Amino acid sequence: MKYAIITGASKGLGESIAKRLLQEQIAVISVSRTENKELKSLAMDKGIEYKHISCNLSLETEIQEVFMEIAHCLFENQPTEILLFNNAGVIEPIQKVGNLDQTPIIRNIKINLIAPMLITNLFLSKAHLTNTKVTIINVTSGAAIRSIEGWSVYCSSKAGLNMFTQTTAVEQADLETKHTIIGFSPGVMDTGMQETIRSTTEDAFKELEKFKEYKEKNMLLDTDTVAHRLVDLVLTGTPESGKVYHIKELLET
Ligand SMILES: NC(=O)c1ccc[n+]([C@@H]2O[C@H](COP(=O)([O-])OP(=O)(O)OC[C@H]3O[C@@H](n4cnc5c(N)ncnc54)[C@H](OP(=O)(O)O)[C@@H]3O)[C@@H](O)[C@H]2O)c1
Repeated sequence: MKYAIITGASKGLGESIAKRLLQEQIAVISVSRTENKELKSLAMDKGIEYKHISCNLSLETEIQEVFMEIAHCLFENQPTEILLFNNAGVIEPIQKVGNLDQTPIIRNIKINLIAPMLITNLFLSKAHLTNTKVTIINVTSGAAIRSIEGWSVYCSSKAGLNMFTQTTAVEQADLETKHTIIGFSPGVMDTGMQETIRSTTEDAFKELEKFKEYKEKNMLLDTDTVAHRLVDLVLTGTPESGKVYHIKELLET
């Protein structure tokens, strides 16, 4: 039996990943602040186990409490594999350094970087001495490797996530575990995050016009397409631990 945990499954890419996994008869635990009722009814139609757990990933005490409980329940069932998608993320604050407020900086780093670190650490620790393989997918961004003016905090959070992914992979290889951890860069997708980006000002975000054009010219990727490629890689491919995959290479194959 396989279980998947998806953070940020209430909308956007996370929702598409959850839908595809339910279609594949994989039990899903969704973690975000709001629940997506469509996922619940899809799971009921398919007769698959599904649970939504409300959690604010910017609060470390909530993360600890919620994921300890999830890990406890899942490992007790001795699943063959647990798929952990650290997908939830925020783009804000979009502003030049010097004009940033303190609270959104801290919130971004907590959700985009600290939450995946805490959750990964907890699951790898619980997997120790069990036969369950843990596969971790950290959703990153092209912004991790490209400086985008106005996105200093987001770029830094995703660059940190890439390095955390790569370092964890090296450690797991050295420990000779069967666990796999990869990064996944989904490309520019038509989600709420892009709406937030388009609602900023050119003063705060130099590339605003380019991102507005992506939408106007229908250049944004559809989340279902992206999720299918990612899930294909995870379920039927052999993802290389430590690698940061980009949607472009998956669409080409
Ligand atoms: N869209 C793009 O073009 C793009 C490009 C590159 C990378 N990405 C990455 O892809 C991932 C998914 O992005 P998306 O575009 O699908 O975003 P989205 O549509 O804005 O969805 C974000 C998800 O994160 C959850 N989330 C946000 N803050 C949270 C919090 N404090 N606690 C718990 N959950 C929280 C939201 O759930 P609730 O609001 O219900 O809590 C939601 O389900 C992110 O990691 C993003 O950085 C996106």
